[in-house]
Amino acid sequence: MFLQPFPRLSLPAASVTSVIKTTHLPAELHHWRSSPLKTAAMLIKDMTFKEGQEFKIRVKPKDDCSSFAINFGHDTENIAMHFNPRFDSNTIIFNSLSGGCWGSEQCEGNFPFMRGEECKFHITFNSSQFYIRLPDGSMLNFPNRLGDVKYKYFDVSGDARIIGVKIK
Ligand code: GAL
Repeated sequence: MFLQPFPRLSLPAASVTSVIKTTHLPAELHHWRSSPLKTAAMLIKDMTFKEGQEFKIRVKPKDDCSSFAINFGHDTENIAMHFNPRFDSNTIIFNSLSGGCWGSEQCEGNFPFMRGEECKFHITFNSSQFYIRLPDGSMLNFPNRLGDVKYKYFDVSGDARIIGVKIK
């Protein structure tokens, strides 16, 4: 059932235990609505992304996209990497969230995205850094402030749709 809206999603089946859209949030996730990450388009829980693996994601920003974010971490309050392209300022903001509190932002000026156009990211990490390959092939990095080598929480929030996800 999870694969239907995302025909090219190719995660190992066992690692995807739930995909939740905000419009169908169950009552026990009410706290999630008031968290900083309240507009998730797609949430995958109990997926494991480990040091050394490569996470590929294809995303399509909406035609009127203001911003979207790709988040990896432990849960909605503990995000190791918040990757947030903002179309209004043509900047990418990185940050981490620990115990519900944002850290200091890292701002990048390279902005190889277009509203309405599919874009692809490759993400790898180790205990000290995340490495992100942008759609134009350029690389960015962001410190792994939570310092872990395994993250099980992933979501995409904001004005974009996930086209496909692959881990290898
Ligand atoms: C906030 C924004 C959050 C997140 C954060 C990153 O202003 O509301 O969604 O992007 O910045 O520092």
